[in-house]
Amino acid sequence: MATILILGATSDIGRAVARQFACKRFDIHLASRDPSKLSALKTDLNIRYSIQCFTHLFDAVDFASHESFYKRLEPGPDIVVCVFGYMNENELVIDDPGETLKTINTNYTGAVSILNIIAADYALQEKGCIVGISSVAGERGRQSNYIYGSAKAGFTAYLSGLRNKLYNKGVHVVTVLPGFVYTKMTEHLNLPKRLTAHPEDVARHIYIAVQKKKNIIYVKWFWRWIMCIIKLMPEPVFKRMKL
Ligand SMILES: NC(=O)c1ccc[n+]([C@@H]2O[C@H](COP(=O)([O-])OP(=O)(O)OC[C@H]3O[C@@H](n4cnc5c(N)ncnc54)[C@H](OP(=O)(O)O)[C@@H]3O)[C@@H](O)[C@H]2O)c1
Repeated sequence: MATILILGATSDIGRAVARQFACKRFDIHLASRDPSKLSALKTDLNIRYSIQCFTHLFDAVDFASHESFYKRLEPGPDIVVCVFGYMNENELVIDDPGETLKTINTNYTGAVSILNIIAADYALQEKGCIVGISSVAGERGRQSNYIYGSAKAGFTAYLSGLRNKLYNKGVHVVTVLPGFVYTKMTEHLNLPKRLTAHPEDVARHIYIAVQKKKNIIYVKWFWRWIMCIIKLMPEPVFKRMKL
């Protein structure tokens, strides 16, 4: 029986990933900051799927705790999905240095801190799969979202380097670029229906990507082409746009 670790398991996408892998009979380590949400999620998974489910407190920005957190996991996970993230209004984030650091530390530094530890262990074992949820916001900085976007850009580059480094060790790394998804993070936004996925879509694509060893996935296929056009726009044109 394989085991998956979900970092940020109480996120809407994390919950959907947990259900997706539970219905495929994976045992699950659920990790997040909130014990009451974790225990409700564990109970739900146990009742629906009767799998082994373990809960762990995990704070992405408590970097000093990451090594001992990972060492305590028993059994060690075969797959890790790094789902946690943080996004606030860009103008608020720019005006408040605490919000700027929280955005960078949650989406980039925290993810790098825990995944460096897991990657080192997987490299030694010469097996394992690491899945990182990044964002199309990281593909080109836009005035409306460039603090979050730049943290996700760093995370995307990190995952690319990790995939390149670990390939010869038999460890696979998947980068997930979901596009818009209906979750708590985006509930205040008026998202275009046709461009927006549901957490269950993201979870299904992650499951397939792990099985088929895909490298970089967009959940709705047209996001690849939307971002291709956005990236190809010449800077003199792009800088005049209100994006
Ligand atoms: N929704 C979208 O359109 C979209 C698009 C592209 C990428 N993403 C990415 O998808 C991932 C999941 O987000 P979501 O859309 O499912 O939103 P969400 O439900 O708001 O999930 C965000 C999660 O991050 C967790 N978190 C925040 N700071 C943390 C910390 N310091 N330590 C541990 N956990 C922390 C939160 O934990 P609590 O439950 O304790 O609050 C929450 O569960 C994020 O990485 C996000 O950037 C989302």
